Amino acid sequence: MFDQLPAPTHRPVDSSQLMSLIGPLDAASDGGQLTAAQIEAVAAEVGVDSALAYMAMGMYPMLQVKREHPTCFTVCSGRCQFWGSHDLIVELLRRKAERLGAGKGAFDVMAQGCLDQCNSPVAMRFNGPAGQGVLPGANSELLDAVIAELCD
Ligand code: FES
Repeated sequence: MFDQLPAPTHRPVDSSQLMSLIGPLDAASDGGQLTAAQIEAVAAEVGVDSALAYMAMGMYPMLQVKREHPTCFTVCSGRCQFWGSHDLIVELLRRKAERLGAGKGAFDVMAQGCLDQCNSPVAMRFNGPAGQGVLPGANSELLDAVIAELCD
């Protein structure tokens, strides 16, 4: 399954740190659902970047991001970590904040343990009115074009 993968480019995040976020996220949730603002508040309270909170939720399917925008990007936060999924979520969240600040259409961000595109990390699923699918080999250089295509 992984025999054609390129060499890893990133270190995985600390899984125990992700696990430690699940309790605070669960406590802040409304029946397992959390808005982006609630996720960011938990991350700030614990003292980690918000991307780690999203990745923790990707490990624990009982916690779900409450949809607030027509388009959603879901990043593989499993083995794709070795090729930069944490950085990709950081970049998605940064671009989302910029677009919200500029009054442009934004999007939801989610993480999931695997998107069944394991030979082409980082896998990112998109889903919205403009279409749906999985983008293999996603990286921050591709984000602006993909976001503009799906959200403008
Ligand atoms: S491990 Fe990332 S898509 Fe399967």
